[in-house]
Amino acid sequence: MFPFNFMSIVLVSQIIFNCVSGEELIFANLLRRHGARSAIHSFKTDPYNNQSIWPQGRGQLTQIGMHQHFDLGRYLKQRYIGLLSPQYNRSEIYIRSTDYDRTLMSAQSNMAGLFPPEGRQQWNGSSTNWQPIPIHTVPRNMDSLLAAPIESCPKLNKLRSDILASTEFAKLQKKYAPFLNNISKWSGCDNVDIRSSWNIQDTLITEKTQGYKLPDWATDEVLKTLDEIAGLDIHVMYSGVNSEYRVDIARVVTGNLMKQIVENMNKRITEEDNFKVVAYSAHDTTVGSLLVALDSYNDLPPPYAACVILELYKDDATSPPRYIVRGYYRNSTKDLIELNLLGCEFNCSLGDFVQRASAIFPTKHSKDCGIPLYTDFFKDHLELLFVIVSCLLALTWILALMACCRRRCRSKKLRLREVAYQPVPSFDEHSSS
Ligand SMILES: *[C@@H]1O[C@H](CO)[C@@H](O)[C@H](O)[C@H]1NC(C)=O
Ligand SMILES: *[C@@H]1O[C@H](CO)[C@@H](O)[C@H](O)[C@H]1NC(C)=O
Ligand SMILES: *[C@@H]1O[C@H](CO)[C@@H](O)[C@H](O)[C@H]1NC(C)=O
Ligand SMILES: *[C@@H]1O[C@H](CO)[C@@H](O)[C@H](O)[C@H]1NC(C)=O
Ligand SMILES: *[C@@H]1O[C@H](CO)[C@@H](O)[C@H](O)[C@H]1NC(C)=O
Ligand SMILES: *[C@@H]1O[C@H](CO)[C@@H](O)[C@H](O)[C@H]1NC(C)=O
Repeated sequence: MFPFNFMSIVLVSQIIFNCVSGEELIFANLLRRHGARSAIHSFKTDPYNNQSIWPQGRGQLTQIGMHQHFDLGRYLKQRYIGLLSPQYNRSEIYIRSTDYDRTLMSAQSNMAGLFPPEGRQQWNGSSTNWQPIPIHTVPRNMDSLLAAPIESCPKLNKLRSDILASTEFAKLQKKYAPFLNNISKWSGCDNVDIRSSWNIQDTLITEKTQGYKLPDWATDEVLKTLDEIAGLDIHVMYSGVNSEYRVDIARVVTGNLMKQIVENMNKRITEEDNFKVVAYSAHDTTVGSLLVALDSYNDLPPPYAACVILELYKDDATSPPRYIVRGYYRNSTKDLIELNLLGCEFNCSLGDFVQRASAIFPTKHSKDCGIPLYTDFFKDHLELLFVIVSCLLALTWILALMACCRRRCRSKKLRLREVAYQPVPSFDEHSSS
């Protein structure tokens, strides 16, 4: 619980700030990476290549990871005094997660820090400092928001293979080759390159975070270079070596999320009662790709519980009021880094932000992904189109007649709409990565 005095001091200072500047925080989008987890991969000489050091198996949130998100929740509680009610209010916040155990559990830990039950929300006296808060998700193969693209995207594949085949990328490989040769030798893995070094970097970081002593070769300096390469890999895969494909890739990978982020802010303005915070729980690649799309990536791998914050402020001093978007990156517990979103100044007007962001809004999947449209084909074959349309019309008539007959013959039995059946995924499918 918050000491009462402390709370009122913060509230008072917040009110004073608002009066002076005429500015009010009215909305926040939050995109977070999950907290610390167990390793997903291993390597030949890994001294901890032993499942038993990870009691829940690979890729699972650890107690340290829970703590990281709990702490982030407490930080958000302080930051959003005045925006969010002190007690949980379901109409103020909406949480969406990818369908991974570690992101779902991170979101839950986060909410435990943000909304410990107080007063009438206590459901077992003061002996339980937690209350359930809903976390929404969709199956992975339907998650076009946080795991896009979910359908095949030839253009993305083409851009990525172009990037990997480019002379700029070859230069990078060459630059890091002597270092990566050392990594190959030390890890016992053949031909470690920029793309595959992540497996080793990630495994070492999980073990270090968990407090295990790393092999002697994994010095701080080596880890720093591995970090640098992992960060660079995100930059390269989401925009090309010189960021030349940033917009094209962002449109298929981040476009839906960007569109929703803008929509969330607009809704808050047009519909008074809308959510004040929408929080997403996802992965390093989600956080990294959003930062790349926003042209604000620092080329370092997003750490555990890293949080991208996109806030909307309303300035009443002018009429009509001015709306300002501010972006921050919380990649450590110490600093909140100001972001210049999409090349806009730090205090970016909403109109300016939306205009810049709309460049990466998705259009049609087929167009964004370079799938040839059948319409182009038929333009050249008009007579074929005529025959097909005629046949289709005839077929529709016949089917309609048949359906009519059947309905008449049938009793008035209620027909239930069919719903796609989704079995519980097998354990292997659902665990780890
Ligand atoms: C794995 O670790 C456990 C406990 O740390 C140990 O008892 C076991 O022998 C190890 N197994 C292997 C294959 O190293
Ligand atoms: C919850 O938030 C909504 C929207 O801001 C508000 O109308 C409602 O009064 C709040 N409920 C409580 C119990 O504070
Ligand atoms: C509820 O509170 C009682 C004591 O008041 C405690 O013994 C019990 O463990 C609590 N239950 C939960 C689920 O925390
Ligand atoms: C590779 O490792 C050796 C020592 O084993 C070291 O002298 C050398 O500087 C390392 N090279 C790079 C590029 O890190
Ligand atoms: C956080 O970002 C800042 C600015 O880009 C960078 O200097 C710092 O090293 C980052 N910290 C971590 C832990 O990634
Ligand atoms: C952004 O706006 C705030 C308040 O209006 C002001 O204090 C701050 O200096 C501005 N920051 C930048 C980088 O312009």
